[in-house]
Amino acid sequence: MRHLITLADLTAAEIERIFAIAEDLKSKYRTGLREPILPGRVMAMLFEKQSLRTRVSFQAGMTHLGGSAMFLSDDVGFGKRETMADFGRVLSRMVDVIVVRARRHQTVVELAEHCECSVINGLTDLAHPCQAMADLFTLRELVDKLAGHTLAWVGDANNVAFSLALGCGKLGMRMTMATPRGYRFSEETMALIRRAAPDLELDVTDDPAEAVRDALAVYTDVWASMGQEAERETRKRDFADYQVNAALMRHAQQGAVFMHCLPARRGEEVTDDVIDGPQSIVVDQAANRMHAQKGILVWLLGPTT
Ligand code: CP
Ligand code: NVA
Repeated sequence: MRHLITLADLTAAEIERIFAIAEDLKSKYRTGLREPILPGRVMAMLFEKQSLRTRVSFQAGMTHLGGSAMFLSDDVGFGKRETMADFGRVLSRMVDVIVVRARRHQTVVELAEHCECSVINGLTDLAHPCQAMADLFTLRELVDKLAGHTLAWVGDANNVAFSLALGCGKLGMRMTMATPRGYRFSEETMALIRRAAPDLELDVTDDPAEAVRDALAVYTDVWASMGQEAERETRKRDFADYQVNAALMRHAQQGAVFMHCLPARRGEEVTDDVIDGPQSIVVDQAANRMHAQKGILVWLLGPTT
């Protein structure tokens, strides 16, 4: 039984295996085939924060696979009604997999410690592994081999950036980051990255133009993540020079794509012309969440593991 809490939990070969399953299921889905690989399997979903993509892609994906998903609302009292140990021990005897989106990363770690079924991190303050899986899967559809290419991150060194750093490191992609001082990975987070992805080539700068120069993909995310709403005005000032706009995209190589995990704050971290422009692959990324999620579910629960 395996968990997916951060991409440190997966080897490069396992990531490739998940991509191969996702690719196969995606091509079948496109021809109208929804193979019931996980009949009778039950997924519980616990979300402490809002979600469109993660929630719907997991639920739809599990349904395609012949299993079922139950979205557990506040009524179950997660974190409030009983200890995490009692909650996890009981819930995991009734379901096959739990997807959890939590305010604190430690909540997911603690829940997994007490569960007898797989736990998948659906976003925490530290990590968003399923997002990075879908993003790298999306890039892999564009180029034969990810290794040797550069992903440029422009903005806050947040949960999505952390997961992409691990994923890039494992798959041999270089990462450049344009992030203002004070918003870069902490020493503690850098240590986690170094341990999980020792081969990652990571260059950090405060010049977005320099960061995007050789990039296959230019990626940004909101300047204030969920839970950081009180810092929004300060962050808007501090990140003002880090907007991904047409002028910045002109510094990237021809053919570079624009990526964003969504939801976006248009006019802040990205302008409408870029996110709606010909280089943008944000909707493909979002749609691929479902295919990547299916790959993860089948890898964790299916007959092929
Ligand atoms: N990108 C992403 O995780 O979106 P949601 O917050 O809508 O799930
Ligand atoms: N960094 C964002 C990602 C949302 C999918 C957040 O945590 O709010």
